[in-house]
Amino acid sequence: MISATAVAGTNIALVKYWGKRDEALNLPATGSLSLTLDRLGTRTRVTFDGGDGAADRVLLDGAPAAEKVAARVTTFLDRVRARAGIAARATVVTDNSVPTAAGLASSASGFAALALAATAAAGLDLAPTELSVLARLGSGSAARSIFGGFVEMARGARADGSDAAAHPLEAGAGWDVRLVVALTAAGEKSLGSTAAMRRTAETSPYYEAWVRGVDGDLAAARAAITARDLPALGAVAERSAMRMHASAMAADPAILYWNPATIAAMARVRALRAEGASAFFTIDAGPHVKVLCDARQAEVVAAALAETPGVLRTLIAAPGPGARLEEVG
Ligand code: PMV
Repeated sequence: MISATAVAGTNIALVKYWGKRDEALNLPATGSLSLTLDRLGTRTRVTFDGGDGAADRVLLDGAPAAEKVAARVTTFLDRVRARAGIAARATVVTDNSVPTAAGLASSASGFAALALAATAAAGLDLAPTELSVLARLGSGSAARSIFGGFVEMARGARADGSDAAAHPLEAGAGWDVRLVVALTAAGEKSLGSTAAMRRTAETSPYYEAWVRGVDGDLAAARAAITARDLPALGAVAERSAMRMHASAMAADPAILYWNPATIAAMARVRALRAEGASAFFTIDAGPHVKVLCDARQAEVVAAALAETPGVLRTLIAAPGPGARLEEVG
């Protein structure tokens, strides 16, 4: 019986993914662009050992996973089993480097690590692009965590999703930026991304405008990475996040992920910029603020955010590698 352990870092989108063209296959309505991080990741061990007999056994951060989480893992493993021609249930032991309850638990690093560990344990040897396609079926953003550094996710055109995969942006390799994470609340996010994307697409009058703008943002982000122009990349990142959230806020009922500390942190970043720092915020489907900045300014940015009212904790992350196997056997 083979068991495999894989590690993946989470990624933060600088050009957001917000909307699906196919919900069953997690096909994005647009491309997206992200940075994979060295911290905030997942380590997952998969063994096709029969699980608990009837079902897969899923342990998350040392305890049995909630039913919804376990069901999502089983659906994903079913695809791997079908592909490998095996039937055995599995034991999955997965740990996030930041406790899931901190609200930063990431389906991105989770499904990237699971895709790699499960395929290796099942005896499959997939190329990175195939792994990216597979990880996407677990979570759209997970497709990007297969690769390290700056990564672009393609929207793809095919109905089967075989061309909706991520690829690394080599022009960004070695660029020494940092992402400072400011946690502004404890606990899980209020509304999951799939439901929120669906509601935005179905009810927000701004959704079409959001989709129309993404290709331009992707082109601008790519150019900024090639030129190593942090203010240009930061401007795109802030714009993309604000437009994503504006489209969600205009849904019915409205989707608002921010809390007072989110806004205070955004204001602090703008103030830092006015003082000459090269720092730019982005916000995902939750209240936390992530700040892209120059490596040399990361400590100052983190200290300023740490003293912002309502900010509970800060973390500094650097660009990190793609998903990798730690152990097979
Ligand atoms: O991969 P999902 O379904 O959790 O969606 C991710 C959505 C955002 O984090 C808000 C944006 C992104 O591109 O990561």
